[in-house]
Amino acid sequence: MPVSTHPDSPVRSSTWRACPLTASTIFPTFLLPTNLLPTNLMGGMGMGLRKAGGNWVAGDRFFDREVEVDALIERVEDGTHTLVTAQRRMGKTSLVRELLRRLEERGDFETVFVDLEDCATPADAIVEIAAGSRHIRGLWTRLKSWAARSSTSAVDRIDELGASELRIKLRAGIDAGRWRAQGDALFASLAASEKPVVLAIDELPILVNRLLKGHEYTITPERRQDTDAFLSWLRKNAQAHRDRIRLVVSGSVGLEPILEQAELSAHANVFAPFELRPWHEETAVACLGELAASYGLEIPEGVRIGMFRRLRCGIPHHVQQFFDWLHEHLRRDNRSEASMDDVDTVYSQDMLGVRGQVYLEHYQSRLRMVLGDDGYVVALELLTEAAVSDGRLTDSSIRQYAAYRSVLSGESGGQVRDVLHVLEHDGYLARRDGGYNFVSGLVEDWWRARNARGFVSFSDRHA
Ligand SMILES: Nc1ncnc2c1ncn2[C@@H]1O[C@H](COP(=O)(O)OP(=O)(O)O)[C@@H](O)[C@H]1O
Ligand SMILES: [Mg+2]
Repeated sequence: MPVSTHPDSPVRSSTWRACPLTASTIFPTFLLPTNLLPTNLMGGMGMGLRKAGGNWVAGDRFFDREVEVDALIERVEDGTHTLVTAQRRMGKTSLVRELLRRLEERGDFETVFVDLEDCATPADAIVEIAAGSRHIRGLWTRLKSWAARSSTSAVDRIDELGASELRIKLRAGIDAGRWRAQGDALFASLAASEKPVVLAIDELPILVNRLLKGHEYTITPERRQDTDAFLSWLRKNAQAHRDRIRLVVSGSVGLEPILEQAELSAHANVFAPFELRPWHEETAVACLGELAASYGLEIPEGVRIGMFRRLRCGIPHHVQQFFDWLHEHLRRDNRSEASMDDVDTVYSQDMLGVRGQVYLEHYQSRLRMVLGDDGYVVALELLTEAAVSDGRLTDSSIRQYAAYRSVLSGESGGQVRDVLHVLEHDGYLARRDGGYNFVSGLVEDWWRARNARGFVSFSDRHA
């Protein structure tokens, strides 16, 4: 078992610097990503593609995405700031981690990774960026006055502090009124590093959404102003230091729809969007093949294709999970060859079963976060209508629903339109022939299992 990029690595919120023991370290002449090495060679060594293990992947757990990694490297070299978007579990964090890993290997950039998922204020975000940058040489000397304010008695000692201790100290030294000046100083200090810096900021849209809507998911003028201030600050620094700092921002919540709601869209202009797509059938089927080879399983191609067709959409996490559960199922029976019957059993009992719910729950809960309570109800209704109608929401049923709502609440139909926009943007539904279809077969089946009972179809409703 190779030492790998374990998700719970203690440096989770800082640059990932560990060097995984992959075939390229065993055979130094192969400076190739592990997944480009011949599978038979890797498989014979009991290595090959490893299972994901629950969090982001890089190195010997990272499959495909060569085109995407290259495109991002090109952008970094060009000085383009990027916003990577895709729904949760598409592999954004993994892609960015792998990008940073390869840049580290090349050695011509400093790399910083921060995750803002748990941040609530601009000051939190700045502390997170500072803590994530702590390994950069000279950073603290350049930030002397800031560090001193943070009660880190001797600047030299900062290097010895653990990430969480450092975070607490920095947090104590940054006050709500001065975050902007301190944040500017941090960016200036990063820009003065010996090498240009690639600053990856994960889950920025979650922080923006939180700033804008608070715990009640409602936009107030004050919240809008705070969000505006934070994004203006970020944009200003991104523009001012473009030659020395490249931002790679990512998030599972679309930033654009959130900013549209608050009429703050202009702030997203500084980022060139990059949409991470699901794997095509061939890629997903190849991934299943590599995993099977690594773990000594026989999953005939027809069976792997059958697995993909159940999912219908190659969200890497779903592919990995399907494999993981199939593996476990076979192991329980002490078998190594999978049939279509095994796949069907695992799909209905595990993927759609109680254990699978945990992994799919976010498809429902995040809608409330993005849409607020009212919009959430509309989204539930539209998706359930689609789920009970063979995965399809027709334009005429949407009109029926809009009419029903307008009689009930006087609502003009704008909200239904906005919600559909988010459902389409975030990959739940795709527009096709006068209606919308569920994109993922798994999400559709799960949604039906979860929400269909007791649901009254739009055509049977009378306001
Ligand atoms: N390139 C990849 N190769 C193999 N598995 C992947 C890849 N990208 C994503 N995955 C799978 O998807 C899961 C979620 O990946 P992650 O990067 O955390 O997604 P996101 O940040 O979009 O939510 C991983 O645990 C892994 O199972
Ligand atoms: Mg992520």
